[in-house]
Amino acid sequence: MDLKKTLSIIKPDAIASKCQGKILDYLENKGFKVIAQKKLKLTRKQAEAFYEIHKDRPFFSELVDFMISDNISVQVLEAENAVSYYREVMGNTDPEKAEENTIRKLYGSNIQCNAVHGSDSEENAEKEISFFFNKIELIN
Ligand code: CMP
Repeated sequence: MDLKKTLSIIKPDAIASKCQGKILDYLENKGFKVIAQKKLKLTRKQAEAFYEIHKDRPFFSELVDFMISDNISVQVLEAENAVSYYREVMGNTDPEKAEENTIRKLYGSNIQCNAVHGSDSEENAEKEISFFFNKIELIN
């Protein structure tokens, strides 16, 4: 089996609505292994750096405000084809367009408050994992 890793964030909306445990249960039932996890509150500078790729998009400042509005919980998930598999189980960015029984359909409210983030490529997964976790935290 060719196991890969992806970065997941349980966003402030899902933390506030106490859905963190349900989302982690869902992920474990889908076969993901949680390799590392931490809870934190991003600073504005950290959120801007994480979402730098979106800095020219019209929703950037709202996205940053939202991501620093409360704690987040960040996970490194392992599974076969973890990046594409996680994107499949998250569902469409917009919960209204997401398929039934995807995380965003179940726990998201709108395109901003969409419960979770997942890396969009293996290259970005590596960058995003090392944004939040150092080498020793990933040894298990
Ligand atoms: P995420 O997977 O974390 O990656 C970037 C985030 O920007 C995305 O989820 C959404 O939460 C947010 N986003 C994307 N498009 C829009 C939009 N049109 N309006 C507001 N937020 C958006």
